[in-house]
Amino acid sequence: MAGSAEYIASSLQSLYGDEVVAADIRAWCTMNGGNYQTITNKISQYKVGRGKWNFQISPSRVNSIEKAYQAPAVTPSLEQNLIPQKDDTFINFGPFNDLKAILKANLFYPTFITGLSGNGKTFGVEQACAQLRRELIRVNITIETDEDDLIGGFRLIDGNTVWHNGPVIEALERGAVLLLDEIDLASNKILCLQPILEGKGIFLKKIGRFVSPAKGFNVVATANTKGKGSDDGRFIGTNVLNEAFLERFPVTFEQDYPAPSVESKILKKVAATLGVEDIDFCKRLVDWGDIIRKTFYDGGIDEIISTRRLIHILRAYSIFGDKMKSIGVCVNRFDDETKQAFLELYDKVDATVQLAGGEE
Ligand SMILES: Nc1ncnc2c1ncn2[C@@H]1O[C@H](COP(=O)(O)OP(=O)(O)O)[C@@H](O)[C@H]1O
Ligand SMILES: [Mg+2]
Repeated sequence: MAGSAEYIASSLQSLYGDEVVAADIRAWCTMNGGNYQTITNKISQYKVGRGKWNFQISPSRVNSIEKAYQAPAVTPSLEQNLIPQKDDTFINFGPFNDLKAILKANLFYPTFITGLSGNGKTFGVEQACAQLRRELIRVNITIETDEDDLIGGFRLIDGNTVWHNGPVIEALERGAVLLLDEIDLASNKILCLQPILEGKGIFLKKIGRFVSPAKGFNVVATANTKGKGSDDGRFIGTNVLNEAFLERFPVTFEQDYPAPSVESKILKKVAATLGVEDIDFCKRLVDWGDIIRKTFYDGGIDEIISTRRLIHILRAYSIFGDKMKSIGVCVNRFDDETKQAFLELYDKVDATVQLAGGEE
C-alpha cells in the first residue's frame, strides 16, 4: 500500500533526506511494495528535474509556503520598538566604552564578552544599545536552544502551518544587535549560526528564502567561560564551544566585577531607587564583596558574591530593614559552611551589626 503523496514524500524524506533520485525511489518501492511509475506520478509535485525530487523546496511548495509566510506570525511582538530603555542606575565600567564604540561603528564585528556571573555583562550590552538607540534582540541560550528557536520554524496557527521568524532572522532583517546571552550553555546545535557569524546571511531552506543582513546587524555573545569548558566545577552546565565557532568572534573582552569605587556608586544608585538611605550599608556591602572575591581568587572559598547578589541584599534590606537578616536570606542559597563564612565576614566589616548567636 503506497498511501498519499504526503505520506510517500515524508517517508522518502525521512529515509533519504530532502533530495531523492530515481534509484532511491526504486529501493523504496522494493521495500514498501509500490510500483515505480505509480509512486513517481503521485509525488510529481516534488519533481525538480529528470529523476530528481526535492521534498524541501518544490516550486509549488515554495509558493504555498511563501503564502503562509505572509500570514501573521505567532507573536506580532516584533512590530514594536526594540530599543532598550535607559536605566538611571547604570554606571559605565569595564569594556563598556569599547563595546559601545563597536556598536556605534555600525560594522559587522561579532564580539564576545566573558566574565563571572552577575557582573553586568548583559546589562552593559543592553545599556550600550539604549544609549546608542540601537535595537537589541536578546536570546537566552540554553542546552536546549536549537535551530527552530534561533532561526525559526513552522507553527500551527488556526489549522494552518505558518512560518515564524526566529530572533536571529528578525535581528538580521532589522539590522539589530543580536545578543546571544550565556552562549557557553549551548549545545552544538548553535552551529547553525555559523554562516551568520561570517556576516553572510542565511538561506532558509524550509521556505526557499535568502535573508541577508541589514546594515547595522551585529552579534554580541556573553559567557561565564571562554567557551573552553570548565573543569573546576564552578560553571556547571557550560560546554566546550566548537573552535571554528569561537574563531568567528574577532574580539573578546574580559569583564571583571566592578572596582569597589564603581560598585559603591552602583549600590548607592540602586539604594536611592529603593528609598534606602543607609549609604554606609552600601559601602560595607562593597567591602564585604571585595574581600570575598579576593579570597575566592586566592582559592580560599568556592563561592563568590556578585554585583547582582549585592543588589539582592539591598532589596531585601528595603523590605526587612535588618542588615543581617537581609544578608542571611540572600546567602541561604550557598552551602552551610560558605554561608557561615560569609556571615562572619560581614560581621567583621560592619561594626554596627551583631551576628545572630554570635560570640558571647
Ligand atoms: N554597570 C552597572 N551599573 C549598574 N548596575 C549594574 C551594573 N552592572 C551590573 N549591575 C547590576 O547587576 C545585575 C546583574 O547584571 P547582569 O548584566 O545581569 O550580569 P551578567 O549578565 O554578567 O550575569 C544587573 O541587573 C544590575 O542590577
Ligand atoms: Mg547575563
